[in-house]
Amino acid sequence: MEFNANRRGFIKGAGTALGVAAAVGTAAALYGMKRTWDPLPSVIAAGVTEVDVAGMQPGELKRVEYRRQQVYILKKDEQMAPNDKRDVIVEGERYTIVIAICTHFGCIPAWNASNGVFKCACHGGEFDTSGINVFGPPPTPLKIPPFSINGTTLVLGEEGDEYKQLVALK
Ligand code: FES
Repeated sequence: MEFNANRRGFIKGAGTALGVAAAVGTAAALYGMKRTWDPLPSVIAAGVTEVDVAGMQPGELKRVEYRRQQVYILKKDEQMAPNDKRDVIVEGERYTIVIAICTHFGCIPAWNASNGVFKCACHGGEFDTSGINVFGPPPTPLKIPPFSINGTTLVLGEEGDEYKQLVALK
């Protein structure tokens, strides 16, 4: 009788210890999985590109790399039509900010300053100074990357209020 009671106690204790070990193991495994899925700090840092547009002249185009893609930043001059649904306003100046990937088959359109168009060499598609498709096969305007504005600095990769307002206008 006494032996059975001790044995039951032992089995119960071993069962509890096993349960605790399993719970700790599961928690450790979940933590490990979460760490595997979370982007590395370097990836998060690489996802943001800061561009100071303070020195840009009207009509000037800047090319920057953002998440391994090219982005065009065009400071509009007086000849370029304003577009309230697409222009990014920084300190009262209008900018076109677009990902340089043609919406037809993904070629990189080139800025043609003399004609005021982004021209795609692959099939002749054209986009105006706001990045809107105006000629050829591209079905939609050039995409605007997420951005926020901090003074005269554009932060590509952050969804600021100005970006959300543009998206809401579409
Ligand atoms: S890929 Fe640009 S027009 Fe076809």
